[in-house]
Amino acid sequence: MKDERSIQQAAEIIRRGGLVAFPTETVYGLGADAFNPLPDARIFEVKRRPYFDPLIVHIANLADLERLVKEIPASAERLIERFWPGPLTLVLLKKEEIPDIVSAGLPTVAIRMPSHPMALSLIEESSCPIAAPSANPFGYLSPTTAQHVREQLGDQVDLILDGGPCPVGVESTILSFVEEPPRLLRPGGVSLEEIESILGKIAINSRGEEKPLAPGMLSKHYAPRTPILLDWERKEVERYRRNKRIGLLAFREPNDRPQFDSVEVLSSKGDLREAATNLFAAIRRLDARNLDLILAEPIPEIGLGRAIMDRLRRASGTTDR
Ligand code: TXA
Ligand code: MG
Repeated sequence: MKDERSIQQAAEIIRRGGLVAFPTETVYGLGADAFNPLPDARIFEVKRRPYFDPLIVHIANLADLERLVKEIPASAERLIERFWPGPLTLVLLKKEEIPDIVSAGLPTVAIRMPSHPMALSLIEESSCPIAAPSANPFGYLSPTTAQHVREQLGDQVDLILDGGPCPVGVESTILSFVEEPPRLLRPGGVSLEEIESILGKIAINSRGEEKPLAPGMLSKHYAPRTPILLDWERKEVERYRRNKRIGLLAFREPNDRPQFDSVEVLSSKGDLREAATNLFAAIRRLDARNLDLILAEPIPEIGLGRAIMDRLRRASGTTDR
């Protein structure tokens, strides 16, 4: 009941041109009416996001999709059937009605149907698609709780809907359908293996040759204040520790805990889904502990591990560009 009232209130704010932070299954989004360029522009101001970085448009039903895009390739339709609602974003040729500010002047638009019940109700009650990036200042870690949003954007958002911690924990997978075969622009909540089991081999932006199309791809993105190191060896920890406070971002429970000033474990049983859910909150906690350096353990690059390693590389600034 309480949720229903807050959703009504949030929808009213969206309809009147305000900004609402809301939970999705991946991360919290900062939303506005996708068809209203003024609040859409405010999203960029609040996030301090460059205007060349387009927003994702969130929808609650397939009729909305047809209002937004020129055509839906058969391959995209197969993914929609399998993964929507869910953590998959499709880049398609946009219709004119979508304000240029949303698509950053590109001929395409990124669209997804989230599966979080609060996100779906909010979109339905607002009676418009909702343009929303992750609800964090540009370049910082995405929020996976309402508290993360409050801490960083609290006073600049008209309302924050609290739906608890996000169950997936990493952002949606982004696939572009403006080329054939489709291209993976950002690994995320739906794994490459799952996508290729339906489409066969797709194109992948390998590190170093990424086009700056999706600035979520900028090398220094998702970055906390404390430096993160991904490329390190256990036998060197003693050397790192000289006069320094060192944190460990561990995949499983480590057997050398006392070596570190602070430890966060992503999944004691080594489960990649659980690790993804905990990723951003664990980095935030380490970042708040005045450490000089965070050593991050590499994660197996299968399934969700690919999205986790992508975020860790960006947080550590070790992508090639
Ligand atoms: O899980 C998610 O996708 C979350 C939740 C809130 O839905 N949203 C999210 O949005 O991560 P954001 O803005 O932080 O990241 C969206 C990425 C950006 O890197 C942007 O460049 C890319 O999507 N993007 C948006 N429109 C695009 C387009 N037309 N072509 C290529 N990339 C696009
Ligand atoms: Mg983001």
